[in-house]
Amino acid sequence: MNAASLGTKPILRVLGREREETPPVWMMRQAGRYLPEYRAVREKAGGFLDLCFNPELAAEVTLQPVRRFGFDAAILFSDILVMPMALGRKVEFLAGEGPKLEPMTDAAALSQLLETIDGKVFASIYETVARVKSQLDSKTTLIGFCGAPWTVATYMVAGEATPDQAPARLFALRDPVGFGRLIDRLVDGSIEYLVGQLKAGAEVVQIFDTWAGVLSPEQFDRWCIQPTEKIVAGVRQQIPGAKIIGFPRGANAMALPYVVATGVDAIGLDWTFPRSLAADMLQPRVAVQGNVDPLALLAGGEALDREVDDVMTALAGQPLIFNLGHGILPPTPIAHVERMLKRVRAG
Ligand code: CP3
Repeated sequence: MNAASLGTKPILRVLGREREETPPVWMMRQAGRYLPEYRAVREKAGGFLDLCFNPELAAEVTLQPVRRFGFDAAILFSDILVMPMALGRKVEFLAGEGPKLEPMTDAAALSQLLETIDGKVFASIYETVARVKSQLDSKTTLIGFCGAPWTVATYMVAGEATPDQAPARLFALRDPVGFGRLIDRLVDGSIEYLVGQLKAGAEVVQIFDTWAGVLSPEQFDRWCIQPTEKIVAGVRQQIPGAKIIGFPRGANAMALPYVVATGVDAIGLDWTFPRSLAADMLQPRVAVQGNVDPLALLAGGEALDREVDDVMTALAGQPLIFNLGHGILPPTPIAHVERMLKRVRAG
């Protein structure tokens, strides 16, 4: 990354700890079912995974929300569950049911994982990254991503989405050493995957730890902070200065230890995190990303205006990437996204 690109891209400036008068904006899950143009491509592609592995169509849906809304970032269109595929697990997305994997309930199943990452799984994703990069203007930042080891493990262990991540928590309680071996495999795979994305043209990577909030403080340190710290260090060993955003959803009181230990350039916060605390404790150290409640965006009107104003008042005085506190919900009207952006950009 050269100084010129740092100079022209608002998100990179904020990640370099500069405050922007109007904070740069993007939305988690910004490419998705709330957009008619996404639904049209999705139908053409066949299954969700077919879309993820089709560089032409995946690049197209990555760019759709950037074209429509002028977001400051494009986020690679893919899914966190390509990692288990690269480790040799079967992954399916059944219509209306979410992901289905073969469950792994104990350490014996670890022997079924591939010794090394299957690079074929990632090849088309790197091609998507390169295609998107070649079509972005000089102000828009390309963000790659992976799932954090803990969150990916919750799906690998249970074989599906779970309300409380109990299967993975039980595995970790019954056999912390065996569970640690699974986490280590995911750490190594994630370093390789993120480095691959950065080499293909991603300028920033985000580590999604969607289910970090169910861990006790001690477990949070072991299964969220330590693996993330290893990924950040491992990526920067190969790509010095790599820009990394961490999103430990539900971190609450563990947000500060997460920031201090991992060395991320920004922390993504969900809407349950007190904004005044974020301004006092976190923003003096790192940029903050967030944290509009996706339900306020769905509700629209004054509830949305109040939420946007609250984020701006509390957080826009220091380095901020304006975003949601989690992914946009599929029934969200496009007019609400437009209303939010107009308000942010009006200052
Ligand atoms: O943010 C973006 O626009 C980039 C693309 C992206 C997707 N998934 C596309 C997707 C990203 C960054 C993800 C991350 C992801 N995937 C996470 C972490 C972030 C989060 O939202 O918590 C998780 C936990 C997953 C796993 C996953 N993928 C589940 C549980 C589901 C089913 C639930 C659902 O929303 O349908 C998915 C499917 C998925 N991933 C869709 C999209 C656009 C919907 C698929 C469709 O088009 O039908």
